[in-house]
Order: sequence, then structure tokens, then C-alpha cells
Amino acid sequence: MLYLIGLGLGDAKDITVKGLEVVRRCSRVYLEAYTSILTVGKEVLEEFYGRKLILADREEVEQEADNILKDADTSDVAFLVVGDPFGATTHSDLILRATKRGISYQVIHNASIMSAVGCCGLQRNIICGKKIQDSEFLNLHGSFYTDLRIQLPLDGVASIDFLDSFQMDFGNKAHW
Ligand SMILES: C[S@@+](CC[C@H](N)C(=O)[O-])C[C@H]1O[C@@H](n2cnc3c(N)ncnc32)[C@H](O)[C@@H]1O
Repeated sequence: MLYLIGLGLGDAKDITVKGLEVVRRCSRVYLEAYTSILTVGKEVLEEFYGRKLILADREEVEQEADNILKDADTSDVAFLVVGDPFGATTHSDLILRATKRGISYQVIHNASIMSAVGCCGLQRNIICGKKIQDSEFLNLHGSFYTDLRIQLPLDGVASIDFLDSFQMDFGNKAHW
């Protein structure tokens, strides 16, 4: 199993309980060290987690992903990412590679700068309905959230039909 584990935004103690349990039992633990940085270094994390970490730079992750995925079909490998593993990263690539090789994966999310930025007064999701249509929103690379009460099925995931209806309303400029 490949685990992608978010480390949160502050220091060693921001990992989730679930993430820490996985880190402590994995056969190899990689620390992705190029999309973001914590306030503490690798040694502090190693001491708190009680594990040796393998630093993974951009080249290792993007050009030599096979090293990271090696034996992940028969043992557990953890890939640690500061913030959330999918907050402004391209780690979906690693998941696609794992899936292609028949390796299962699990994501353990954590706080991301993309949500924490709200504490500076910047909000990412105050835009809806007609305003999206009228604005330059569709010419940008952006995201929006839908109303859980009326728009989504109970599992909270937007259905393809629902997204298709937006596609019809907004034309070819909207992509998901
Ligand atoms: C490529 S993004 C990755 C974000 C990360 N995966 C997450 O979910 O928070 C990294 C950028 O986010 C910003 N960033 C990340 N953590 C931050 C923090 N604790 N304080 C301020 N900016 C931060 C910096 O601009 C940094 O270059």
C-alpha cells in the first residue's frame, strides 16, 4: 500500500494520529521536500515520529518514482507531504503511476495553506450561481464549492449528472 500523508502546516506535532500510526509501521517513509517546507527540519520529524525519513526531491518524485513505488504492492510505503498531499501539488501523478502498477493507495489528508489562508481574510469560495457566469471566473483556473443541502447526494460528492448540468449552463469553458 502506498500512503500519501499530509503533515499539516506547523511542526512535527501537526501530523494526524492516523498519519502517525501509519508512519510508525511503514517499511519506508519518504519526506517530499520541495513543494513546501515545515518550520522544523527532517531530524526533528525523525525524532518525533521515531523513524528514519528518506528525503525525496523533485527529481526523485517526478523522474524516479519507481524507487518510491518499489515493493509497495507487498509492503507499506509512506510519502509525506507538508500541508495536504493534494494542496497545490502534482502528486496525483504518483497515484496514477501506482494504480498502473496495481499498487493500492490511501490518502491521509491534513490542513492546507489553501484553507489556512482564510485567517488573513482571503476567502476562496465566496462566489456562486449567476455570479460565476457573469464574472471572469470561467477564464481562470479555479475551483468552487457547491451547496451541500440541496445540490449534492448524501455522500457529499458531486454527481456526474450534476456537473454535466453546469457544463450545459456554462458551455465549453467549464471543465472538471
Ligand atoms: C506548492 S504549495 C503546497 C501547499 C501544501 N501542499 C499545502 O497543502 O499547504 C507551497 C506554497 O504554499 C505557501 N505555503 C505553504 N505553507 C505555508 C505556510 N505555513 N505559511 C505561508 N505560506 C505557506 C508558500 O507560498 C509555498 O511556496
